[in-house]
Amino acid sequence: MIKFIEVEDLLSIRNDVLREGRLTLDECRFPTDKIVGAFHLGYYKNDELACIVSFHPQTYGEFTGVGYQLRGMATIDKYRGQGLGNQLVNFALTYLRGQKANYVWCNARKKAAPFYHNTGFEIVSTEFDVPGIGPHYVMYVKLK
Ligand SMILES: CC(C)(COP(=O)(O)OP(=O)(O)OC[C@H]1O[C@@H](n2cnc3c(N)ncnc32)[C@H](O)[C@@H]1OP(=O)(O)O)[C@@H](O)C(=O)NCCC(=O)NCCS
Repeated sequence: MIKFIEVEDLLSIRNDVLREGRLTLDECRFPTDKIVGAFHLGYYKNDELACIVSFHPQTYGEFTGVGYQLRGMATIDKYRGQGLGNQLVNFALTYLRGQKANYVWCNARKKAAPFYHNTGFEIVSTEFDVPGIGPHYVMYVKLK
């Protein structure tokens, strides 16, 4: 079941999956987590939060209209590769279309690029390095 959740609900998964458990929960907050228009989604499997993602309004580059940035996409280990992430992102894209958003973009880890590609994102940058995390691309999906 997919739900809108509070950022506090997802910080431990952010830490465990995206920061290898190296940070405190407060250090896992993004400055944009509570800005106007930001929202967080969780996929619950057997009453357990299994997959998370966050969005906030943010334009990118030359793209016109209302843009949202996707951040903090993570599925806990035991539920990976079962389509939860795909369903969660598709839910978000449908919701954002309803919110009159024009596009969504993200800084995608190179390893996760095929995952985003499956939900319609395309690579729109050259490869760049995020120190301590590794190679990334900017990926983008047009909504309307
Ligand atoms: C990237 C990540 C969020 C994907 O989450 P997920 O829930 O495993 O995603 P899905 O199961 O929808 O898709 C993963 C793979 O399972 C496959 N899959 C299996 N069953 C599937 C189904 N029923 N529907 C869709 N895809 C399915 C897909 O082909 C996909 O393969 P690909 O990534 O090579 O394209 C997850 O691997 C993760 O948390 N990774 C570590 C953190 C990370 O890198 N986050 C992204 C930061 S940019």
